[in-house]
Amino acid sequence: DETQVAIIGAGPAGLILARLLQLQGVSSVVLERQSRAHVEARVRAGILEQPTVDLLREIGATWRLDREAEFHRGFYVRLDQRTNHLDFHALLGRNSCVYGQAELVKDLIADHLAADRRLLFEVSDVALAGFDVPQGLDGLQGSDDLPGQPSVTFTHDGRRQTLHCVVIAGCDGAHGVCRPAVREAAGRAGQPITVLERHYPAAWLGILARSTPPTPEGMYCVHPDGMSLHSMRGPRLSRQYLQVPANSVLDDWPDERIWAELTRRSLSTDHPPLETGQILERTLVPLRATVLERFQHGRLALAGDAAHTVPPTGAKGLNLAVADVVVLARAITALLAGTPEPYESYTATAWPRVWQAVAFSTAMTTMLHRLDDDPFEWELRRARMTALLTSTDEQRAHGELYLGLPFATDW
Ligand code: FAD
Ligand code: DHB
Repeated sequence: DETQVAIIGAGPAGLILARLLQLQGVSSVVLERQSRAHVEARVRAGILEQPTVDLLREIGATWRLDREAEFHRGFYVRLDQRTNHLDFHALLGRNSCVYGQAELVKDLIADHLAADRRLLFEVSDVALAGFDVPQGLDGLQGSDDLPGQPSVTFTHDGRRQTLHCVVIAGCDGAHGVCRPAVREAAGRAGQPITVLERHYPAAWLGILARSTPPTPEGMYCVHPDGMSLHSMRGPRLSRQYLQVPANSVLDDWPDERIWAELTRRSLSTDHPPLETGQILERTLVPLRATVLERFQHGRLALAGDAAHTVPPTGAKGLNLAVADVVVLARAITALLAGTPEPYESYTATAWPRVWQAVAFSTAMTTMLHRLDDDPFEWELRRARMTALLTSTDEQRAHGELYLGLPFATDW
């Protein structure tokens, strides 16, 4: 079997890449390890940047989002028990969009299958081969079974199969097969790829609950004992996060303890206490950034969480995955048309925007969380928050990043 691009992973990166390629007349097959039901039920990110929404609209993926999503002007910050609203819309004329990642993935899968594009679920033992070839045109022409041509072997429906392709797109997240494969092949070729990373001594305990969110837009509550974040996925559906120590386990957090802590950290003098409700889902999300020094080797290119992860503070992960595949789709299309340079410079093109997001997530993380016991640090954080809450110049700079920088290329 053959296709032009084998895409590993049906998350936002893989599904949007497949759509962008299709619009350019490039064929692809998406291979996903989990079942359709599993990926459609996975509660994760939920804040879309304005460039992300614009792109989704251009590729025809907002038929449900346009009806169901909420558009927000900014967010709230609760500090010293007082609630402040940051109105980025007033300064920049743009909005952020609240639409759950699971909903977006559902829509993208429905579009994909309705258009008869190829997507296999419950694929196991994915193995990559033959991608360690020159990135340029060499080897582009020629027959399918030329040695050195990229291929993906996998098991589906109990049958072992091989898919030959020109490029493999690694969109399988931080714990997939593509990140280690790219590093291993690059290492073998004497061009090792190191991982630039920063870990924080904290994690987020996230819940989805049947309760009314305390504020009409998301709210970061800064408490001396740690942050809580109160976001939403609908009018009666709250998505809330609690800063917990990095080594926390969910078993230590029965419902009553989660609600008690969320309530305590979000107490204010200007709003009623938090509404509680049935907890529908809970996860731990580590606070860490990992960025591969290069996102590609030969004809294997990574995008999204496979290439880099950011701490969740500021909600950049999903948006960054979209920004990557815009650049990658264009690069692959050019490569297939005989122009290798955009593909060769994929990492360099994506790099600055990735680091803007890493810097933003890092700034948000260190400003909003209690990461040590140093009272000096607490006052520094309070000074940074006060600057953000009182200066429209600070708000404009912050809002520009929060609402989303333009993509590095057009699609
Ligand atoms: P993913 O969405 O991870 O998609 C990768 C896909 O590849 C998955 O469907 C996976 O099943 C598949 N896959 C993996 N291995 C293989 C394999 N070997 N073969 C085939 N397929 C494979 N961001 C926020 O802003 N807010 C949040 O609350 C938030 N919560 C998160 C919670 C968790 C548990 C995680 C992991 C991430 C969270 N994020 C959050 C980050 C955000 O969801 C990611 O940045 C985003 O999903 C990246 O999209 P992606 O397509 O690159 O990767
Ligand atoms: C979510 C919202 C945020 O404001 C954020 O920083 C991270 C995640 C969310 O709704 O999932």
